[in-house]
Parts: sequence; C-alpha cells; structure tokens
Amino acid sequence: MRSYLVCFRDSCREEYPIDSVLYQCPKCGGLLEAAYCWDCTAASGWKALWRNRRLDNSALEQSGVWRYRESIPFLEDVGQIVSLREGNTPLLAAPLAAQYAGLDALTFKHQGFNPTGSFKDNGMTCGISQAVRLGKTLVGCVSTGNTSASMAAYASAAGLKPVVFLPHGNISFGKLSQALEYGALTLQVHANFDQILAFVRQIADRAGLYLLNSINPFRIEGQKTIAIEMVDQLDWRVPDWVVMPGGNLGNCSAIGKGFLEMHEVGLIGRLPHIAVVQSAGSAPFFEFMKAPSEGGFRPVESPETLATAIRIGDPVSWPKAWSVLRRTNGVVERVSEQEIADAKAVIGRAGIGCEPASAATLAGIRKLVANHTIQPDDHVVGVLTGNLLKDPDYIYRYHTGQLKTPGGEPITSTYGNRPIDVAANADAVVGMLEKLQ
Ligand code: F0G
Repeated sequence: MRSYLVCFRDSCREEYPIDSVLYQCPKCGGLLEAAYCWDCTAASGWKALWRNRRLDNSALEQSGVWRYRESIPFLEDVGQIVSLREGNTPLLAAPLAAQYAGLDALTFKHQGFNPTGSFKDNGMTCGISQAVRLGKTLVGCVSTGNTSASMAAYASAAGLKPVVFLPHGNISFGKLSQALEYGALTLQVHANFDQILAFVRQIADRAGLYLLNSINPFRIEGQKTIAIEMVDQLDWRVPDWVVMPGGNLGNCSAIGKGFLEMHEVGLIGRLPHIAVVQSAGSAPFFEFMKAPSEGGFRPVESPETLATAIRIGDPVSWPKAWSVLRRTNGVVERVSEQEIADAKAVIGRAGIGCEPASAATLAGIRKLVANHTIQPDDHVVGVLTGNLLKDPDYIYRYHTGQLKTPGGEPITSTYGNRPIDVAANADAVVGMLEKLQ
C-alpha cells in the first residue's frame, strides 16, 4: 500500500516520500502526517485478523501496537520493528470514579500499564523503528519526563544512542531516573519545555539528532492504536466520549486520527466526541477554543502546574488537535490543581492509580458532567496516560497535607491517608486494627 508524508495544512497538502527526515513542511512550515491509500475492501477482514493474532505468541503479535499493523503500514520491512510488547493496556471499570464524576459507569483505558509506564511507548515503538529504517544512530527528544523515559528505553533496546533534554527541576524523579537507568545522555536545561523544544528543533539537523517529539509523524501513528485497541476491546462499540489530558496535544491528535481513519475505512460506523482536559495554569488550548480562528492561537508564556507532564504553554500539535475537535464535535475543559489532586486520590482509592496529569481526565469528566456536556448515562472512556509510580513525591505530599500549588497555596487533602507511626507493641497494634472491623 502506498504510504507518504503530507502537509497537514488544507491550503498546502504537499506530499513527501515516507522516508524523508522532516518534522515540518519545507514549503509552508505546516505539521506533517503519515497518509496511506487505504484499501477498504481489505479492511473488512482486519477485525478478525487482529483478534486471531492474540493467540499468537510471536513478538510482533504480542505487541498491542504492531498487532494492528495494517492501520500503520509505513514500514516496508517488519524486521526493522523495535518492540517491548507495548500497548495491551487494560480497560478498567471504575464504579467509584463514575460515582465521583456523576456518571452511571466509567471505564479507564490505562496506558500506565505500558513497559515504561506511559502511553508514549505506543508511539515510541514506531518512532524508533522508523529511526532504524532510516539508519539513524542518534535520537533525541525534549520532554516533561515520559517521552524521555520511553525514548531512552526503546533507543537502548535498539542499540541507538538516546539524548534527552529536560526542563531543569520540573520533571518528577521517577521519570528522570528512568532516563538515567535506560542509559540516555541526560541534559537538564535551564529553561521551560517550550523554550527547549524551540531550541532543539533548530539544532537537531546540525547535531545529527533524529527528533522523536510528537512533531515526529511516526510517533502519532503508534499512538493512534490506543483508539484501535480500545474499540477492539469494546467489541467495536464506539463510546460516546473519549476523554484525555492535553499538553503538547499530540495524543489527542493521534487518538483522533485513529478514530477518523477507522471510520474512513469502515471499521466503525460513528465517531466519539473527543474531550481534552488541561490544567488551568497551562491551558492555552482551552483559551483558544473559546473563540477559535486561524492565527488566533496564543501560547501561555510561563505555564505552571504540579501535573508537570502537561506543563506546556505552546503546544506544537494544536492545529491537529483543533481539527480533531471540529471533526468529532469535541470540547476542551480546564481543571484546577485541587481538582486534579482530588481526582487522582479517587482513582487511587478505586485501586487503579495514575500520575497527576492523568487525573486531569477524571477531574475534567466530572466538570463536563456537571455542566451537562456529558450526560450521566453516556458511555465514557477516560484515558489514564501514566502510571502511579511516576510521581511518588506528589502522592506523599498530598496524603500528608504538604502539597501546595505552584503559587504556594495549600491544597486540601480531601482524601488524605497519612502513614501512622506505631511502636513495635502487639497490644497497641491489635487495638488499632480492632477499630477497623
Ligand atoms: N499525560 C502524560 C502522563 C504525559 O506525559 C503527557 C505528555 C500528556 C498527558 C499530554 O500528552 O503532550 O500528547 O498532549 N508528556 C510529554 C512528555 C510532553 O514529554 O513526556 P500530549
């Protein structure tokens, strides 16, 4: 099947070979995306093909990304694939979280079950496989922590050298530790994510770095399969709403592309509404969507949020995200630090757990139900993007009443659960446990 890169701008649509090393359109500067000449007749057999592959123990079929490879046919040689058995993330029913949000039922698609603990692995297996195909040896990314953890793992697994650029002091230790352990050259830059990304985009070619931020169209291809795996797990029933956090806006672009393409080839008969949730201190897309217009996007100069994964003021993928919201009749919501912290604790109490940025999903759903955008009996899937263990420091502070907003305001530990110091005394401990019965 023919695959190619194409400029995302409707006014341009210039095409480039699929093996071009490009991150934006040389003609107009627009974002690029991978495109294919779909064969809709062949697509009618994909559902059965993909389901049957689950019975196959080979590495390729055990990947929850490459099992769906007919939907991402940009490689000519599957021998170039680098996989850590990514994807395969569960759909988890969460009655407690549903009740908190005011819904009859709520299901989470938990991307934190990935090999490096976030949804980035879905995209990185594709980005690194493309790097191998292109013969690249040095790969780089700017990251709020999860992309760097994922890229470091996949690059090292492939024998490539990872170089990560991180905003100094603004990523969680869990994520920083992953980059170190997976062997990345780790550069902590004294600037914020947006500033570092602008700088690294300028130097990438000169430094011989193949860039694996979500401006890389192949990352988006892999993250598309989150949508495909979700509806496969739902036996091809399409939810009314799919809700996720938004930072650089690559993930909602990818999940949206997944649904739009499944619709185009006839795998699904309708589209869900896509909802994106931003943290109030880093919400340029929320502001933009109040009165969207070409050229009307205003970055936030100094984004702030304790959900450091989404501490981004100038998201590169906003044109793609805007298109997804237009085409799915979607919305953007914004939530406060307190709302994120409480939603996160509720997800924990449900026995599920996630990192702060992911909890924006539940906080956003709750708001969208309260303002009647989402109806209580709607079928809602919330995407949890990262694992609970990514940011233990935040958790400890919340439960011990020490968490403060970036502005220094205390956050109330509504669902706090302090550790208790006890003496090694049997009677005292038994006495304490008796009260629990
Ligand atoms: N949730 C988590 C846990 C993330 O790490 C990110 C982004 C997002 C949500 C937002 O996704 O950027 O596609 O809108 N993390 C990036 C990183 C920026 O560098 O790890 P997005």
